[in-house]
Amino acid sequence: MLAAIAELRRQAQAALSPQVWEFCEASTDEPGEDRGPGWARYRVLPHVLRDVESVNLDVDAFGLPLATPLVISPTGYQTFFHSEGEVATAAAARATGAVMVVSARSTSRFEAIGAACPEWWLQVYLMRDKVLTQHLVERAKAFGANALVITGDTPYLASQTRFAAGLGTMTAHTVNLDVDAAAIDAGATAQDPSATIDDAARLADEVGLPFVVKGVLRGDDARGCIAAGARGVVVSNHGRRQLSRVAATADCLAAVVEAVGGSGEVHVDGGIRSGVDALTALALGARTVGIGRPVLWGLAANGGAGVSEVMTALIDDLRATMARAGVQQVVDLTPDLLHSL
Ligand SMILES: Cc1cc2nc3c(=O)[nH]c(=O)nc-3n(C[C@H](O)[C@H](O)[C@H](O)COP(=O)(O)O)c2cc1C
Repeated sequence: MLAAIAELRRQAQAALSPQVWEFCEASTDEPGEDRGPGWARYRVLPHVLRDVESVNLDVDAFGLPLATPLVISPTGYQTFFHSEGEVATAAAARATGAVMVVSARSTSRFEAIGAACPEWWLQVYLMRDKVLTQHLVERAKAFGANALVITGDTPYLASQTRFAAGLGTMTAHTVNLDVDAAAIDAGATAQDPSATIDDAARLADEVGLPFVVKGVLRGDDARGCIAAGARGVVVSNHGRRQLSRVAATADCLAAVVEAVGGSGEVHVDGGIRSGVDALTALALGARTVGIGRPVLWGLAANGGAGVSEVMTALIDDLRATMARAGVQQVVDLTPDLLHSL
């Protein structure tokens, strides 16, 4: 882990109540077990003398140009980490050029997020109430969401991540729905466990936004999502917060990239804490690399400035690591740069 990020993590723990800290760090790991994210199983085989004076991080996703392949993964309930919550994160996204994926469980209004950062992606769960789901997405689109990340790995929330026995949950479910929390059945905003890829495709089609499916770890599922209309997938295990003993994204990424071939985009997140972690994911074929908990550590430690510090540290470290690996641009990060232990 980068030293600057480790320091912000320490500061975050000191700043947060034990309850919010535990919510942030929660995983399904057994006590004492450290499965790790798996990126360190790869070693880098650098090129030499390749003119890396100016390393270029430009990539594209959803057909849109991005200044960096590092994106802010969706994390809910950000006002529990800092009073400015998602709005501070959005300002940091704008300042650093990293795309923010705003969680459906945002505790800030989309208007305020859009005012801080004009373009972002919305993460959404397929909720039991389809009308509410569509309303949420349409509001997001009106305030700057230009792509959807539809999370597919959470038919039921794992007990570890059920935030403090419901504290704040209804607020987050309804803050962007324009409905009175008391007026709707709590089940209406829960994820619909009967949802399928066709429901995801229908939602995206109805609101007219491109989508990727988040939480895919298998090549066959990735192909199925793309066949149903997805632009691609996010290889993610939800930060190991849902399924016990779930596979590491570092171990699944290459197979998903191979299964997809050129037919769609493959994004990834999980345990990215340094430039070499990001380089490894990009070399294995990821188009973007998402950052989850470190953004929350920065937010808790120092608001938007803390988030900017995290993203800038990672962006700078990725650039420096690419230079040392002899690679000038992201498209030239290819699997032959790695060998696995
Ligand atoms: C506190 C917290 C809240 C999260 N909330 C969401 C969410 O609302 N939607 C979602 O798709 N993923 C959510 N995730 C998962 C992240 O998007 C991401 O997959 C994961 O955190 C990446 O791993 P990392 O934290 O090791 O970087 C959450 C993760 C954390 C730590």
